[in-house]
Amino acid sequence: MRSRIIGTGSEVPQKIVTNDDLSKTIDTSDEWIRTRTGIRERRVSDEKTATSDLAFAAARKAMSAANFDPEKLELIIVATCSPDTLFPSTACILQSKLKASSAAAFDLSAACSGFNFALSTAQAYIESKMYNNVLVVGADTLTKYLDWSDRSTCVLFGDGAGAVLLEKTEEEKGVLASYIKAKGDGGNHLVMPGGGSRDPEEKSGRFIRMDGKEVFKFAVKALEESVVKVLEKANLSLGSMDLLIPHQANMRIIEHVVKKFSLPEKKVYVNLMKYGNTSAASIPLALDEAVREGRIKPKDIVVLSGFGAGLTYGSNIICWG
Ligand code: UT7
Repeated sequence: MRSRIIGTGSEVPQKIVTNDDLSKTIDTSDEWIRTRTGIRERRVSDEKTATSDLAFAAARKAMSAANFDPEKLELIIVATCSPDTLFPSTACILQSKLKASSAAAFDLSAACSGFNFALSTAQAYIESKMYNNVLVVGADTLTKYLDWSDRSTCVLFGDGAGAVLLEKTEEEKGVLASYIKAKGDGGNHLVMPGGGSRDPEEKSGRFIRMDGKEVFKFAVKALEESVVKVLEKANLSLGSMDLLIPHQANMRIIEHVVKKFSLPEKKVYVNLMKYGNTSAASIPLALDEAVREGRIKPKDIVVLSGFGAGLTYGSNIICWG
């Protein structure tokens, strides 16, 4: 039994904030942001928009791409680290919005690697025959947790959501293997300190704090390791990979793996210039765009690779179709 993707969808807020816009309020420049990260602009949600709103729009598109009745949905997993509320879960809020009354629903927290963790969870549920279909959503609104005066973090992130609908198949296609890992010892390098049970009153702040250099070093190794390991698990060679969709955090991190594996440009999907780092949304948003642009054909081998706070990282390998 395997799980195959039968529909994808994505959503970003309308408001675009360019690098030049940011350079009007903080000491930065379009040149610095572009050369250090590759990012040109990002989408920022308004105060009325929460994570579940973006998740709902993305999920509806994925369901309609698959022509799927929400009543038949069995499980919803939302990967997010910016839920609407601590509880109810964003997945339960989404279940209600979708009118998917038969579905179980829960959130999964693995920050920017959340989609990889959620996809491997869905894969396991379907392969174990516990569920016949699963909606997996990666959605985050991290711009709500940025200190807009901290130039080392606020230029990096954007908001968005991406969704995939998975269904069981007995054919040799779909998610072939997943490899997910955590390195909790490095957790202090990327932290959202306030708002949890350690500090419910947010005395330590409700803003993202990051040691960019440490995360960068971790990210290049994590990406390299998880691509190699997931290919090994699927018993496939690097040459058989048709498209790599890495987490869209920094172009220099992506260039490192491109160089390491001598990958031709056409085998790597990049859209971070338009959206920045959208956390758990980054990979499904890129996957949806790649599908809609015709970059993925039936039987293509696609590798999705993420890394992020936790520290967490992982890859999924898919035979498309
Ligand atoms: O999903 C996972 C999330 N995180 C990541 O993937 C982030 C990984 N890390 C990175 O992408 C990079 O480390 C950054 C883009 C965050 C930073 O790039 P860097 O090349 O490591 O720069 P740096 O932190 O070493 O800063 C170099 C200089 C510093 O100035 P001094 O001390 O050399 O005078 C910074 O203060 O650049 C300065 N700087 C800026 N200058 C203009 C930092 N941010 C900015 C900015 N504009 N926005």
